[in-house]
Amino acid sequence: MAKVLVIGGAGYIGSHVVKALLKSGHGVAVYDNLSTGQKINLFKEAEFIEGDILDTAALQKAMSGGFDAVVHLAAKKAVGESMEKPEIYSTNNICGSLNILNAMVGCGVRNLVFSSSAAVYGMPEYLPIDEKHPFHPLNYYGFTKLEIEKYMEWYSRLKDFRYMALRYFNAIGYDAEGDIRGREIGSQNLLPIVMDVAAGRREKLSVFGRDYETRDGTCIRDYVHVSDLARAHVLAIEKLMAGAESDSLNLGTGKGTSVDEMIQAAEKVVGRKLNVEYAGRRAGDPAVLVASYDKAKKVLGWEPAYTDVEEIIRTTWNIE
Ligand code: UD1
Repeated sequence: MAKVLVIGGAGYIGSHVVKALLKSGHGVAVYDNLSTGQKINLFKEAEFIEGDILDTAALQKAMSGGFDAVVHLAAKKAVGESMEKPEIYSTNNICGSLNILNAMVGCGVRNLVFSSSAAVYGMPEYLPIDEKHPFHPLNYYGFTKLEIEKYMEWYSRLKDFRYMALRYFNAIGYDAEGDIRGREIGSQNLLPIVMDVAAGRREKLSVFGRDYETRDGTCIRDYVHVSDLARAHVLAIEKLMAGAESDSLNLGTGKGTSVDEMIQAAEKVVGRKLNVEYAGRRAGDPAVLVASYDKAKKVLGWEPAYTDVEEIIRTTWNIE
C-alpha cells in the first residue's frame, strides 16, 4: 500500500481521487489552500494540511512526511480567465508545479501523477485524439499544462523521478454514493452552469454557438465521469510503484456529446425544460473533441465505467 500526498485534494477532482485511494487501501494526506477546494470535501481518514503550493517552506515540510507518491491537482482551470490574466496561471500553475517537482526531488519522493488536460492539443487535426496528436494549445491554461508535462519529462531524465500525466477530457459528475457534496462555486464549465439554471441559482444558460459543423450545430465534447478519472489515478500510482515508465495518457470515453444533447439529457434528469438561449461562439472553442483512450487501457488497464451522460448528470443532480 502506498502513502500518497494529494495536492489539491479538497477540490472537485481531487476529493474523488482521495476517496478512490482510500477505498483501495492507500494512506492519504491532503495538501490544499482551500482557494477553490472546500473543507466539506475532506475525508476524516485522510490527514489535512492547509497550505499553498507557492509557499515553498510549507510545501517542503509537508513533502517530508515519507510519501511514496504525489498526486498534483492544484491548478487554476478557467480557460477564459487564463487568456485575460496569464500571469496568475504562470504563477499558480507553472511556478507552483515547479515548486512541487523541486520539493519532491528534495525529499526523495519519486512518483507523480499529474492532472493534465485535453487542452494541450488545441484544434484537433484528426479524431479521436490520441497521445501522438500535435500540441497546439489554444489557450494559456492548456499551455501551462503542456509546459508542466515538459518539465516533468526533463526531471524524469535528470533525476530519480517518474510521472504519469493524465490528460482529462471534460470531467463531470459526482460520487454516486453521495460522499462528496462540495458543489463547485463559480465554475465556468457547462454542466455546473446547467445545474445552476436547473436549481434556480442562475436565470439562463447561453449556448455558445449553433453554427458548428456538427450533427446539431453545437460543440461536441467527451464527458467523462469524475469517479472514472479518480480510479485512473489509483491505477497510475500503482503502476508507477510497480516500475512503470513515465507516460502521458488521455482519459475520456471515446464518445462525443453535443451541448444540445447535454441540455436534453439534463432536462430529462431534472424533469423540466431549462431556460436556454443561443448565443455566439466562444473564442477558442474547437467544434469537436473526442478522446482515444486506447493507451490508458493498454498501460493502466483503465476503461470508463460510465458511458451514458444521462446517468452521469444524475450523479450531479443528486447533490443538489
Ligand atoms: C476546457 C478545456 C478542458 C479543460 C476544461 C477545464 C479546451 C479545449 N478544453 O473545456 O481541457 O479541462 O476547460 O475548465 O480548452 N458551453 C456553453 N455554454 C456555457 C459553457 C460552456 O455552450 O455556458 C459549451 C462550450 O462552448 C463547450 C462545452 O459547452 O462547447 C463545454 O465547455 P466547458 O465545460 O467550458 O469545457 P471546455 O471548454 O470543453
